Amino acid sequence: MDDLALRITSSAEADRRIQNAVVYVNMAHVVGLYNAGAISHEVMSKLMQGLSNELSGYPISYQDEDVHMSLEKDLALKVGLEAGFIGLAKSRNDQVATAIRLQLRQELLGVMENVLSLIEAITGKASESIRTFFLTFTHLQPAQASTGAHWLLSYAWSFLRDLERLKLAYQMTDISPLGSAASAGSIVQVDRYFEAEALGFSGIVENTIDAVSARDFIFDSIYAMSSAAVNLSRLSADIVAYMALGLIDLDDRYVSTSSLMPQKRNPVVAEIVRAKSANIMSNLLSAMEIARGLNLSYNLDLQEITPKVWASVDEINDMLRVTALMIRGLKFNEDRAKEIAIKGLVTASDVAEYISIKYGIAFREAHHMVGEAVRTCGESYINCLIESLKSMGINADAEELSKMADPISSVERRSTTGGPHPRESLRQISAIELKVKEFEDFLELNSRKIEKTYQSLINRGWY
Ligand code: ARG
Repeated sequence: MDDLALRITSSAEADRRIQNAVVYVNMAHVVGLYNAGAISHEVMSKLMQGLSNELSGYPISYQDEDVHMSLEKDLALKVGLEAGFIGLAKSRNDQVATAIRLQLRQELLGVMENVLSLIEAITGKASESIRTFFLTFTHLQPAQASTGAHWLLSYAWSFLRDLERLKLAYQMTDISPLGSAASAGSIVQVDRYFEAEALGFSGIVENTIDAVSARDFIFDSIYAMSSAAVNLSRLSADIVAYMALGLIDLDDRYVSTSSLMPQKRNPVVAEIVRAKSANIMSNLLSAMEIARGLNLSYNLDLQEITPKVWASVDEINDMLRVTALMIRGLKFNEDRAKEIAIKGLVTASDVAEYISIKYGIAFREAHHMVGEAVRTCGESYINCLIESLKSMGINADAEELSKMADPISSVERRSTTGGPHPRESLRQISAIELKVKEFEDFLELNSRKIEKTYQSLINRGWY
């Protein structure tokens, strides 16, 4: 093949990521071949020993086309002609699909671990700020009185849902295509269930055409990461805006100054995280676009999908880690929050609700009266409201109304489930911690399962 043609059709560079996974796949297959009576014990031993040694590394070159050919070539150098048996009843098509799934399983657990650390950083900071006065925004305008914890915990919940998505992606990935060969199996009776189990998969991809063609497990994975990326991006947008408003500050290590304006503290890390989410979403779109319209079963186009998932994993891991660090060093400026809350009349909704229930005024009318009072009297709207209530024959309790207008005590008055009341934040933190524990167990169980699988492929005394 022409050198340029060879280079652009080769997956060698991206294949480094699955270098060891490919060896494990071959080990499981060699035992499968032996069990099927297709190779002798001696050949099996020799191949298992040779493959075990390949786990310490082998040269991968684009001139070999891909990692699969590089491995076979190196194994032949080490063990001789019998290396050629690893190609029996196996194609690169089922091999690559299996190796990607094997590697991705592990990488998804890594992403989940980083999401968990971020959630822990969030709940840690939230525990310190359940009584820290803050406010909510709608349309980026001051909305209602709240707390630092209430804001932070909103993100903990969205990241927990991303964990559910990642877990689903893990389950979609955790089935084995191995034994499907090029697309329709082989005359060798390889036990596909055995090979799947030897690699620690929960089951097999039933149909051999589907097994070599399907990449939807990659879409699920990139989608789960895209969702986390969008949530990270929105958290970053909040950080940028709240910092501009003086509501929060970040540790010096996560801001930079301007080359011209020495007074500047720019939230550049948050800005980059906000932008990087677009890369992961683009990976999802390219991956799906490559598969769209492709005939079954295998086409080399599929090769272009794989690097998209590795790039997404690397990108999301960096984003998650740096965001956790940013959150750990975040500081709230309560005085500024109070100032904005008072100026922004964030308790006007409390006052409207109060006169509605206290004096039996339909809420729409109460809303209108408070709005009118705010428009004509601004910050002293309570006085005007008292006047207009008077004109309706209602003698309002001025002290009570002023209390309602106080933003600081407003948080304590609203005991809405999931709301900003400190008691509710504590309840949410406990609920989140329970879920975190569940995911930690999932990670622990599956990483152990994977570790044990690899160990038994290496140590089971095959040679
Ligand atoms: N390098 C390929 C990939 O990553 C492996 C399968 C190639 N199959 C083939 N018939 N050329 O998808």
